[in-house]
Amino acid sequence: MPPVNRPAPAKINLSLKVLGKRPDGFHELETLMAPISLADELEITKADQFEFTCSDTTLPVDENNLVVRAVRLFCRATGRAPKLRIHLNKKVPHGAGLGGGSSDAATTLLALDELFETRLGQQALVAMSAELGSDVPFFIYHSAAICRGRGELVTPVSLGISLPLLLLKPEFGVPTPWAYQKWANSRELPDVPYTPQVFPWGTLVNDLERPVFEKYIFLALLKRWLLAQPECGGALMSGSGSTVFALLHAPSTELAERVRAEFGPNLWMAPCVAQL
Ligand code: C5P
Repeated sequence: MPPVNRPAPAKINLSLKVLGKRPDGFHELETLMAPISLADELEITKADQFEFTCSDTTLPVDENNLVVRAVRLFCRATGRAPKLRIHLNKKVPHGAGLGGGSSDAATTLLALDELFETRLGQQALVAMSAELGSDVPFFIYHSAAICRGRGELVTPVSLGISLPLLLLKPEFGVPTPWAYQKWANSRELPDVPYTPQVFPWGTLVNDLERPVFEKYIFLALLKRWLLAQPECGGALMSGSGSTVFALLHAPSTELAERVRAEFGPNLWMAPCVAQL
């Protein structure tokens, strides 16, 4: 059998409202997420035994990797043996608020369902994916969506709009549990723009900027600087960070050059498009 290649697209949160802390420790959310053109690549081949490799050697390749957890969960649920070789080519940075690991997990479930011809159906795959993480179900749908609950209750939306973006991520990442834990008692920093940015298609706003900017002040400065650039219609942190994205009036290479001149060579940057 030839290898099956699947892109695992990342996401951004165009809006993220934290509605409160729940008795189970999670936070109740309402978030508009959109898939973006930046994607990891999964290569899956049938083999004699299970083998998993990853292009990023800093990532675990054991049960701590969401791809391995997705394989185990799928095989437990369907009674299939994991006779597979999987290689993950990482393009999406981790600790970035771009859902890279979650997308890898969802894409693994979708690919295995196809490969083993188990035809589990979307509902079963969504239920299975919710066991792997709050934003994994979103990636089963391949669509922009409003996600509620802890993120696992997905309502797809399609406005037929493409938004050109520049993603920017410093060398550090932000741990998601930490960001949520700090949310309730966080404060706004002076002279930092948190105000919702209103567009015809919706609103850019992220309640997790408040706790994250308090500790990672560079992200607040980056957002403020981006908002002052003529190419930018908006700027926001995605998820729990540390990626900040600029919403562009039109694709631009000049902005990236100016970012380099202003902030130095260590920022990771990627132009991409979000599908809303
Ligand atoms: O579900 P996931 O494993 O992605 O969540 C990671 C952590 O982020 C959770 O253990 C929890 O601390 C926090 N979280 C939260 N509320 C959410 C989603 C995540 O508090 N809606």
